[in-house]
Amino acid sequence: MNVDLLITHASQLLTIPSHDRGPQRGDRLGDLDLIEDGAVAMSGNSIVDLGPTSDLLEKYTAARAIDARGRVVMPGFVDPHTHVVFAGDRANEFEQRIAGATYMQIMNAGGGIMSTVRATRTASVDQLVEQTRARLDQMLLCGTTTAEAKTGYGLDTAAELKMLDAIEQLDQTHAIDLVPTFLGAHAIPAEYKGREDAYTDLVVNGMLPAAASRILHPAFAFCDVFCEDGAFNLDQTRRILERAKELGFALKIHVDEFEPLHGTRLGVELGATSVDHVVTTPQDEVSLLGRSHTIAVSLPGTPFGLAHKEYTPAKAILAAGGALAIATDLNPGTTWNESMQFIIALACRYLKLTQGQALAAATINAAHAIGRGGSIGSIEIGKQADVLIMSVSNYREIGYRYGTNLVDTVIKRGQIVVQNGRLT
Ligand code: NIG
Ligand code: FE
Repeated sequence: MNVDLLITHASQLLTIPSHDRGPQRGDRLGDLDLIEDGAVAMSGNSIVDLGPTSDLLEKYTAARAIDARGRVVMPGFVDPHTHVVFAGDRANEFEQRIAGATYMQIMNAGGGIMSTVRATRTASVDQLVEQTRARLDQMLLCGTTTAEAKTGYGLDTAAELKMLDAIEQLDQTHAIDLVPTFLGAHAIPAEYKGREDAYTDLVVNGMLPAAASRILHPAFAFCDVFCEDGAFNLDQTRRILERAKELGFALKIHVDEFEPLHGTRLGVELGATSVDHVVTTPQDEVSLLGRSHTIAVSLPGTPFGLAHKEYTPAKAILAAGGALAIATDLNPGTTWNESMQFIIALACRYLKLTQGQALAAATINAAHAIGRGGSIGSIEIGKQADVLIMSVSNYREIGYRYGTNLVDTVIKRGQIVVQNGRLT
């Protein structure tokens, strides 16, 4: 049989399968289902077969073949939490933090998220798209083939819809697939200071219905809230997410990044797809999470970027039987980093994951964390052909080595989009 693309002789083919159609949970995290001297056959957008090279060479002839000798072949990274769409930068605030200011002090003084809101409100859709495209190119070069992308730097109806437009344009014109998340409840905008409930009303009655009709299929989109002291309290978070659920959005929550406000408990109760950050989460909520279908998305780039000492209690989440994914949280305030490889390196050191566990958290579990576990995140027959060839012969080098890009080739929907570490 003829196929479009055949990769052969991978030193290690990591398929990183779903378990029971879901994420890899608890002590089963890190199942790589590794095949030595492995091969993958692809036609059109899809993976049609995989197995030992000798078997596939007998079965298939290929329009194009890649010999991956001495290199690891694995699923594309999925980045399930990003604020990749924004205008401008906050290098000045980074200098203030080096000098001793905290993230929350800068935010309460009118900087932080609001400073990016001011820049994003002023930018045109074209400017937003162009500035974001450069970051997506870097993500693709570093092996990310699908990413979640949040709004949340508009904070009024028109500017939030402008951000959704930018996400849609980028999804259509860039190789990376983007999954949209409405985050109108990212901060209380300056003009509503002291009137948090009035802003919550606007999100519930104005922005959410507008976003739902703007996104054709809200079932394929998420709504998220930054549940935190100085942002949205637990009651406001609940109001917004209950309305979002009625409108057909799937749910995410930024929880326990700094203060534990019981957002994890709320996420489990509302059936959120994920709760994200999960740093200061109390043990009873970790146990609840472990028994639920809600995935914990850890963002170790954020404490690293803020030079904080506390990270997600990943071992406790796994001991409770939970499903753990990792993401960049790419944003201009706390962690401007496009690379999931760097997140894996941090996860090995600060979450104490093995390289294999971190790889599964960055692929199949990350895909489930954005509701796409049925179509991406692993090398399985019938799934989308999103495949990486890494310039290392052993997967244990990923996470161990860091700071250089170990991606050699990226295949997205069956097309070679990065070759020899360069965009094609
Ligand atoms: O996930 N915590 C809220 N949102 C981002 C930070 C966004 C910003 O500072 O611009 C986060 O860390
Ligand atoms: Fe975030």
